Amino acid sequence: MLALGIETSCDETAVAIVRDDGKVLADQVLSQLAEHQPYGGIVPEIAARAHLDHLDKLIMAAMNEAGIGFSEVDLVAATAGPGLIGGLMVGLTTAKAIAAVQRKPFVAVNHLEGHALTARLTDRIEFPYLLLLVSGGHCQLLIVEGVGTYEQLGTTIDDAIGEAFDKTAKMAGLGYPGGPAVETAAQTGDSSRFPLPRPLKGRPGCDFSFSGLKTAVRHAIHDLPDGALTDQDVADLCASFQAAVGDVLLDRCANAFRAFAKHDTTAPTLVVAGGVAANSYLRARLAKLCAAESVNLVTPPPRLCTDNAVMIAWAGLERFRLGLTDGFDFAPRPRWPLTELRMDGTNQ
Ligand code: KG4
Ligand code: ZN
Repeated sequence: MLALGIETSCDETAVAIVRDDGKVLADQVLSQLAEHQPYGGIVPEIAARAHLDHLDKLIMAAMNEAGIGFSEVDLVAATAGPGLIGGLMVGLTTAKAIAAVQRKPFVAVNHLEGHALTARLTDRIEFPYLLLLVSGGHCQLLIVEGVGTYEQLGTTIDDAIGEAFDKTAKMAGLGYPGGPAVETAAQTGDSSRFPLPRPLKGRPGCDFSFSGLKTAVRHAIHDLPDGALTDQDVADLCASFQAAVGDVLLDRCANAFRAFAKHDTTAPTLVVAGGVAANSYLRARLAKLCAAESVNLVTPPPRLCTDNAVMIAWAGLERFRLGLTDGFDFAPRPRWPLTELRMDGTNQ
């Protein structure tokens, strides 16, 4: 069985073709980086227009890469939310049109469920497992009980983790997107130079908070003697920031392991997903914690952690296998928490 997946919720236009045994036949991702870079962040109108300009060509490129025609596709899946409304409309409308013309089932996929189920494609893991979802728009710890069934253990009470990376990069004069730039700069930095806060560390629960850390970074820059950042200042700042984020993630995950143990007696598996999961420093810190706590750590390859359509096609297949398809009246949902997914086919 073959699924065509379309992802247009943010600033990546992506199309993939995935088989139900996990084989990826096509994986096309077009980043709109150059279009948004002059503005230092994503401009929703520009994103929607760029998706419209690129999507058709990208679908054809995916078809060519897989060496198949539309008639060989068994279902069409597209991200229906959460995300920017303009982009979601472009992807959803295109997917529905293909499904209607080809008389194939259509599946509306929650972008976060795409991230959440990726590890089942890459590592064949079974439910239930713990999920640390760390992206530009989210920072959550969840128990994934099954397709469509999520228990949220904690979430950010202010900024998303990727946002904190991006803002830190901006303040340090590094480009957009900030995550990879901060990671690179941190490699030559001294993480003990700036004493930054570890918000919520040591507190019960699994919630996160990053706005205080962001403010502390701004003050640290402001307090530098001549106000101008040298390369070494930037490196030290990024290293100090990353160390603080790492400490917070580890503390919150340790609490999640205890919450999971109350819920399920099997040895826990922790899946780390979302764009920030591409960070190798954070991956290494999490690996150490998991080894110490006898937790099986699963980190999909970076290409499948950042936004892509393989995860959308795969989530479409997972839902289709359970008989879950959606009608052509399915409207985009800019806000769509994982805890609001339905398993009765009435996803809205
Ligand atoms: O999941 P994603 O591609 O898009 C969504 O937000 O859904 O995540 C993008 C976020 C951005 O904030 C980006 O700066 C961050 O992931 N990111 C990283 C790294 N690569 C991407 N953050 C830290 N280290 C990285 N290597
Ligand atoms: Zn994402």
